[in-house]
Amino acid sequence: MLIELASLTPAERQYYLQHVVAPRPICFASTINSNGEVNLSPFSFFNLFSANPPILVFSPSRRVRDKTQKHTLENVQQVPEVVINIVTYDIVHQASLASCDYPAGVDEFVKAGFTPQAATVVRPPMVKESKVKMECRVNEIKPLGDEGGAGNLVICEVLRMHIDDTLFDENGKLDQRKIQHVARLGGDWYTRVNEASLFILPKPNVLLGIGFDQLPASIRNSMVLTGNELGQLANVHELPMIDAAYHDDHLKNIIQYYSINPAEMERELHLHAQVLLAQGRVADAWQVLLSGET
Ligand SMILES: Cc1cc2nc3c(=O)[nH]c(=O)nc-3n(C[C@H](O)[C@H](O)[C@H](O)COP(=O)(O)O)c2cc1C
Repeated sequence: MLIELASLTPAERQYYLQHVVAPRPICFASTINSNGEVNLSPFSFFNLFSANPPILVFSPSRRVRDKTQKHTLENVQQVPEVVINIVTYDIVHQASLASCDYPAGVDEFVKAGFTPQAATVVRPPMVKESKVKMECRVNEIKPLGDEGGAGNLVICEVLRMHIDDTLFDENGKLDQRKIQHVARLGGDWYTRVNEASLFILPKPNVLLGIGFDQLPASIRNSMVLTGNELGQLANVHELPMIDAAYHDDHLKNIIQYYSINPAEMERELHLHAQVLLAQGRVADAWQVLLSGET
């Protein structure tokens, strides 16, 4: 399906974009106006854009139905300070409730049952129940248009972070499994980060991976190995050599059994390497594949 954005209504654009640019972390923005009235709203047009300076950006859009601006935007225009609280699974229903279009001046802390907690260097309160809170100064607001759905980039500099002690491991390191982020996708879809949904992907080889183009043709054109698997193999710094001392019973069996049928042997070797790659055993997978190269 080819989608020409110019021919879509604002709601249709939002529909396609929000489904495909996902999952998006959720900023729970606490702001205050010049009368001291507090607002609390979730925004998934949100991310980290710089660590030094420490910059977060979120975007309250003009309402699609009538192009009006959100109270959060009006507040940061009046008082350029915000507390960005991170939405985790334990508060996601309350955070969603806070997104209701309550009239200006209605305090969503009260509506959604959160406890305001005084921040230390900015005026808006923090959400006590949130496990991660960031006190920010708003450096700049960049409007992106006048139509319904037009975003306003609220560029925030993080001054102080408050992180719940329970999110650290015994070595004082943040434990990614404990934070339990939630994120928004398209429509009513959300996702939850937990032990089952997390996986570790080692950083690319700092010494530079050999790349797909350096993979032997029989491996690069494998009928078995996927792009992800070739990506693991191509991440080695130099093409491995056959290790004469390498021993693997299954490999030995494949070579003995399929020696009269090279095509079948290649397939079996690739299937065996695939299993090893799934276990993260890249060096072993290379030995298996190289035995088919001789
Ligand atoms: C999880 C979630 C994410 C949202 N993300 C955005 C967003 O990125 N931008 C936006 O304009 N509205 C977003 N909304 C809707 C706003 O939260 C809602 O319009 C807001 O509460 C309006 O509040 P205000 O007028 O008090 O600022 C989101 C709602 C939910 C539930």
